[in-house]
Amino acid sequence: MKDIVLKKFEEVYGDSREAKVFFAPGRVNLIGEHTDYNGGHVFPCALTIGTYGVARKRNDRMLRFFSMNFEHLGVIESSLDDLVPSDNAGWTNYPKGVMWAFEERGMKLSCGLDILLNGTIPNGSGLSSSASVEVLTGAILREFFDFDVTNQDLALIGQYSENNFNKVNCGIMDQFAIAMGKKNHAIFLDTADLSFEYAPIALEGAKIVIASSNKKRGLGDSKYNERRSECETALAELQKEINIESLGDLDESAFEQHQSAIQSDVRRKRAKHAVYENQRTIRAVEALKNGNITEFGQLMNASHVSLRDDYEVTGIELDTLVEEAWKIPGVIGSRMTGAGFGGCTVSIVKDEAIDSFIEKVGQAYQQKIGYAADFYVVEIGDGPVVLS
Ligand code: GLA
Repeated sequence: MKDIVLKKFEEVYGDSREAKVFFAPGRVNLIGEHTDYNGGHVFPCALTIGTYGVARKRNDRMLRFFSMNFEHLGVIESSLDDLVPSDNAGWTNYPKGVMWAFEERGMKLSCGLDILLNGTIPNGSGLSSSASVEVLTGAILREFFDFDVTNQDLALIGQYSENNFNKVNCGIMDQFAIAMGKKNHAIFLDTADLSFEYAPIALEGAKIVIASSNKKRGLGDSKYNERRSECETALAELQKEINIESLGDLDESAFEQHQSAIQSDVRRKRAKHAVYENQRTIRAVEALKNGNITEFGQLMNASHVSLRDDYEVTGIELDTLVEEAWKIPGVIGSRMTGAGFGGCTVSIVKDEAIDSFIEKVGQAYQQKIGYAADFYVVEIGDGPVVLS
């Protein structure tokens, strides 16, 4: 891949002198969905698919961007003096947002850059192609301008840029999973204080299979922000009765005891999901540590049911993929992953069942939804790297 992106860089920008090659992964969340903005736990991992980037410094303040995923857009030009979001800027709003966020923190960019990207994450699939581009951009800036920032800083800067430049109110999970990724490990992160531990994922005789619904979703135009504010209102209602900082502070019994403080049925369901999903995530990691993969899978399934019935972020596409997956012997667990409303499911499938999983779930999906799903058997990889 390094040779491919360098060759393309030469084609687009004339030569590749002084250019460096970078990679940042995508991510998949195994369990702990819609908990990261509720002070709860998440359990994502970085993938070996992600975003490759080639970059080099310029002598002026211009920025030039080219994506091999959107070749028809050609080279998109901008300038360090124009770091403002705009509809015309398309995908370049993500790297520009990160540049803006560095400058906001006093890390000024002394010159412009030529950048080329090539993503191996299917666009809009819910495997965090945008967070991957953000962390990649942070890694590029750190390398070329010698900024003293850790990988965790890259995650926080990425999230800050997405919240404040791209106006998507996402939590920290995606950028953290990508910036802090570790081969063959998932990250058990407490979003209340960013404490975390790596948990080895040694799936003997099974693999992680991702099914992409091919129903595109953009976080911005989804109900993501609406769910977030429903949870905030529910929290404020609970806080009139109990002293908590976030929904993640409650366990199931404390929730049941105080849930009547929430004034609407819909908000009660949303809060219930946030509380129960957090507890499920804690239990799932415990089960994994005890080598109980069957329980881990059951908790994944319960997570999907809660996201379907209480949080209401699944939809017919994701429900079909998951409910068909549950029918296949050899499927240890299956659930939607990411924000929902389209995007992907994640399943843990025994090796001998993978072919029939892809065939049967694929057929049923095509029949019911009218277009095909795509399947990826994925591996857990490291965080961002400089490849040269
Ligand atoms: C998106 C957001 C994350 C997280 C998930 C839901 O991926 O970017 O911060 O909230 O949705 O778990």
